Amino acid sequence: MGGLAEVRYIIASRPGLAGDVAPTAAAGHARHRLTELHARMILVTGGAGFIGSNFVLDWLAGTDEPVVNLDKLTYAGNVRNLDGLAGDARHRFVRGDIADQPLLESLLADHAVRAIVHFAAESHVDRSIHGPGDFVDTNIVGTFRLLEAARAYWSALPQASRDAFRFLHVSTDEVFGTLAAGDPPFSETNQYLPNSPYAASKAASDHLVRGYHHTYGLPVLTTNCSNNYGPWQFPEKLIPLIIANALAGKPLPIYGDGRQIRDWLYVGDHCSAIRHVLESGRAGEVYCVGGSSEKANIDVVQTLCGILDAERPRADGTPYASLITYVKDRPGHDRRYAIDARKITAELGWQPAETFETGMRRTVRWYLDHQDWVADVTSGGYRDWIAKHYGG
Ligand code: NAD
Ligand code: TYD
Repeated sequence: MGGLAEVRYIIASRPGLAGDVAPTAAAGHARHRLTELHARMILVTGGAGFIGSNFVLDWLAGTDEPVVNLDKLTYAGNVRNLDGLAGDARHRFVRGDIADQPLLESLLADHAVRAIVHFAAESHVDRSIHGPGDFVDTNIVGTFRLLEAARAYWSALPQASRDAFRFLHVSTDEVFGTLAAGDPPFSETNQYLPNSPYAASKAASDHLVRGYHHTYGLPVLTTNCSNNYGPWQFPEKLIPLIIANALAGKPLPIYGDGRQIRDWLYVGDHCSAIRHVLESGRAGEVYCVGGSSEKANIDVVQTLCGILDAERPRADGTPYASLITYVKDRPGHDRRYAIDARKITAELGWQPAETFETGMRRTVRWYLDHQDWVADVTSGGYRDWIAKHYGG
């Protein structure tokens, strides 16, 4: 790498120094050893969304390594999720698009990023059915731009930093398509058979990430995780939608026969899996992450209703389950997802801490305690979505 770029990298590695000092190249070289030892900072994309904000909060609760958090703040991103970090110098929030390559390049140049953890995406299957364009723009083109910026930055790093650098791509089990009742769960070797525009766009991004490793040597890691639930999940997804509707006395919509199966994982366990993969995963490898917790949708909703009956009984004494309403099925609805997580457990020692029962109770209590957050994020645009998708 050229001397100027190297000096810039070194300066940026000292939080608070960027822009303050105009060092000589010699001073830069002196600091270089310092950088190799101390420059530790991660760039998170989509860190104001559901999983990303949980990840950033957990990360900064467990380490002092700073985070640059790049998020476009679409309807799904909410800076209120990060209120707990107000005034925390370890967290720098930047509003911006992962498809904005000049912005990415300047962010990477200004911070000594040793890893990128890439969450940013359009993530809701139903929205991808109504309008797939945003999914192509962000999940495919956006990931491509991020990979290009990462490749340029990584290529110019000193050798030791190149070796240590990681690009962790957060993906989904939906890229593998659907399982029949007796099929073994998905594992890292499953064929890609995505069935929705969302799954297809994530599959495309996974392929790009893989290609950048095999062609350019970019040290990538990919995780394919099953359905998450927990705090700060936008109430368009099944679990928070059901809690919100139940508390509002509204119908609880079940698509089709409600017997579709998902493998549910508490979000904190997904975040711990990502930390394991980031620190110890082998570059170029894929890790499947799941909760070994297969449940039919109707059983998930019944469980939620039971917890709510105990925690917040309805004024008229009727059970929440009386609100369950079967509605038209989702087109192309995948029947079953399940994950075989033996690789990440055997290689990296990861295991989920929450069971389905403990995670669901925690989640319901969180939503009961954060009704103001729900009210905040379910204003204008959200109501338009509900009217468009569910009618009325
Ligand atoms: P989310 O929709 O809650 O959050 C996505 C975040 O990305 C939002 O903060 C949004 O503002 C941001 N974003 C969207 N487009 C952007 C862009 N162009 N530039 C910058 N930021 C942008 O999603 P989530 O549920 O937190 O999912 C995060 C990641 O995990 C996604 O890549 C998703 O595919 C993957 N994943 C999700 C689940 C799940 O159950 N939610 C399971 C497995 C994998
Ligand atoms: P969702 O939370 O949208 O996640 P994904 O589609 O990524 O799995 O949906 C989870 C399951 O719940 C899925 O099978 C669709 C179903 N579902 C309903 O039955 N009713 C609803 O209102 C929603 C949003 C989802």
